[in-house]
Amino acid sequence: MMKKIILALDVYDFKKAEKLVKDTNPYIDIYKVGPILFLQFGKEIIKMIKGNGKEVFLDLKFYDIPATVKRSVESAKELGVFSLTVHSVGGEEMLKAALSVENRPKIWAVTVLTSQITTPDEVIKRAKFSKSCGVNGVISSPLETALIKKECGKEFDVVTPGIRLAKSDDDQKRVATPEIAVKNGADFIVVGRPILEAVNPAEIAKSICESIKG
Ligand code: C5P
Repeated sequence: MMKKIILALDVYDFKKAEKLVKDTNPYIDIYKVGPILFLQFGKEIIKMIKGNGKEVFLDLKFYDIPATVKRSVESAKELGVFSLTVHSVGGEEMLKAALSVENRPKIWAVTVLTSQITTPDEVIKRAKFSKSCGVNGVISSPLETALIKKECGKEFDVVTPGIRLAKSDDDQKRVATPEIAVKNGADFIVVGRPILEAVNPAEIAKSICESIKG
């Protein structure tokens, strides 16, 4: 089974990203590549992660006309990524176009960004809508995970950013600790700054790994 922590590689430097992948290797199976790294290093960064025996979550949050999103999913498939994101607000036609690509990566729909304040009802509504279109899962804050699992079923992936180890004061508004997120039913937790900004990232990755075991 895959480890539950996804490390968000939100760094600007290829060497730094490579060092993070090597150092945290025992604790992490999936690395998230977003626009910060992808716009600079594209295919090379994906190759580096896969070359280290790991999987890529390509978090470019597609939101465009259906034909463009479908072609974007085809390109992501060519890169060999494990999963990618689309915005649920793109609507049924867009989501179905993304899903129509054969042998595609997993598609996770963004419900509401964890930096935005919203209501659980809104998140559940978007999760149920995304499920009805056929996506593999959703991205949501750890606060709505249990409800989504209850409404959408155990097989529907719930991936949660907004993970904080202690009380924080940054742009994330709906947060929880790794233990609570996993207890609430998260299949994967996306962790960025708590690991990236640590003096010893591997040590923090290890302690999160241990705290969510079992
Ligand atoms: O640094 P931090 O732990 O807040 O990183 C969270 C990561 O998850 C960032 O890369 C952010 O882009 C991403 N993300 C998010 N909320 C979503 C979807 C993705 O914070 N709804």
